[in-house]
Amino acid sequence: MKDLFGHKWKAQRLAGQHAFSSNANLQSFGELILPKHLNTLLAPIEKSIERDEELDVQEVAYDYAMVVFGELAYDSDFAQTSAAFTAPFERASTVTQDRFTNPLYRFTERLFPSGRRFQRDVAEVKAFGERLVRSMSERIKAEEEGEIETPGVDGSQGADGSTIGQGLLLRELVKEHGQGDNYRFLADACLNFLTAGKDTTAQALAWTLYEILRSPAIYAELQAEIDKAPTELEVSDLTAVEGPLQYTNAVISESLRLHPPVPLEIHENTTSAPIALADGSLVGPAEIVLWSPWVMGRSTRIWGEDAADFKPSRWFPEVQPRKSDGTDLSHPLKKSAFEFPVFHAGPRSCLGKNLARIELAYALVQLVKRYEMVPTWPLNQEKSVGTALTAPILGGLGVRARHRQKI
Ligand code: HEM
Repeated sequence: MKDLFGHKWKAQRLAGQHAFSSNANLQSFGELILPKHLNTLLAPIEKSIERDEELDVQEVAYDYAMVVFGELAYDSDFAQTSAAFTAPFERASTVTQDRFTNPLYRFTERLFPSGRRFQRDVAEVKAFGERLVRSMSERIKAEEEGEIETPGVDGSQGADGSTIGQGLLLRELVKEHGQGDNYRFLADACLNFLTAGKDTTAQALAWTLYEILRSPAIYAELQAEIDKAPTELEVSDLTAVEGPLQYTNAVISESLRLHPPVPLEIHENTTSAPIALADGSLVGPAEIVLWSPWVMGRSTRIWGEDAADFKPSRWFPEVQPRKSDGTDLSHPLKKSAFEFPVFHAGPRSCLGKNLARIELAYALVQLVKRYEMVPTWPLNQEKSVGTALTAPILGGLGVRARHRQKI
């Protein structure tokens, strides 16, 4: 059978699977990387309070996601070195996104400065990734030759102060595929992970804040849960459906349902043979299948008559959803990934789902326990999804923050 997905994808997926499915790595992410960069999340808010200014928390979420996933994917020094990466990466991403919605991009692109410097930006991003891959290869070689200590999976530091959580993805990739001059492939693979994880998670956090700001009762219930949760939360507590953050997790799930960061999916059969879907229907060569997690998340057939409502309690195990005729509907927690495809389903499903949920719960706890946020947009005005590959809040999420308690 023809290789449906390509050997490069398979190699990347295997390395990613290994890196993301290990409990030690998730632990490292939650215990070391997220707290290490907490200041990136808090400092702009503190500054806005000090200056009594409005701020866009979606932007803050982007910056936080960039440094944490950058460190995870690439390297411990990402936050320091990322200036050489962030600007060309952001510019090149914007140009790429425009290509999806502008069929004339070949002609219009060079009319704009960002389009004219696209090739240069892509080259800079790739060169940045390759430099990091090279330095990780050298580090691993030195570890293998006993010149420096290998960092422990429990978070203990190696001789150079590094921990396994730092650059763990790059480490896995280099170990698996680092022989020879594979630098370009490895750098591209890391870039894929960073691109997949960064904006999606930041947007999920922004939409979650948006929903709680619009529902004072839900915000109050969330604050009450977070206030009484233990100060030292285990990483496993962050995502436990029935743990100390049960309501927090229900809020996050509900936000992902109504505002999936990947709102639309398009996949093409690039093989020369038809592909059978789960229900038996065939997708011929060059045909495309398109589905919308955004529409599915609002379907009354899947979620019941109250599908349009932001209702975290529907995620409580003891709440049984019913159809309008009174018969039972499958419980949200039991929905298959095909009914709730926010992280996609099947062989190409998201590898970073657990990481994303850990970051979302962590960031939400840190923000809600510290700050009271007041929206600066009219509450009766719904925010729209911006035009991008993923789903930003159009116009951002303006708030005024003030301290609840000093931590
Ligand atoms: C709330 C946050 C996230 C959402 C909603 C999300 C959603 C998705 C979706 C829908 C896909 C399938 C895309 C497609 O093939 O059309 C996907 C793929 C992927 N995601 Fe995520 N993602 C999130 C966060 C992350 C994070 C944090 C990472 C890693 C750091 C990550 C890594 C990946 C990777 C590597 C793939 C490609 C899998 C493959 O093709 O084999 N994602 N994600």
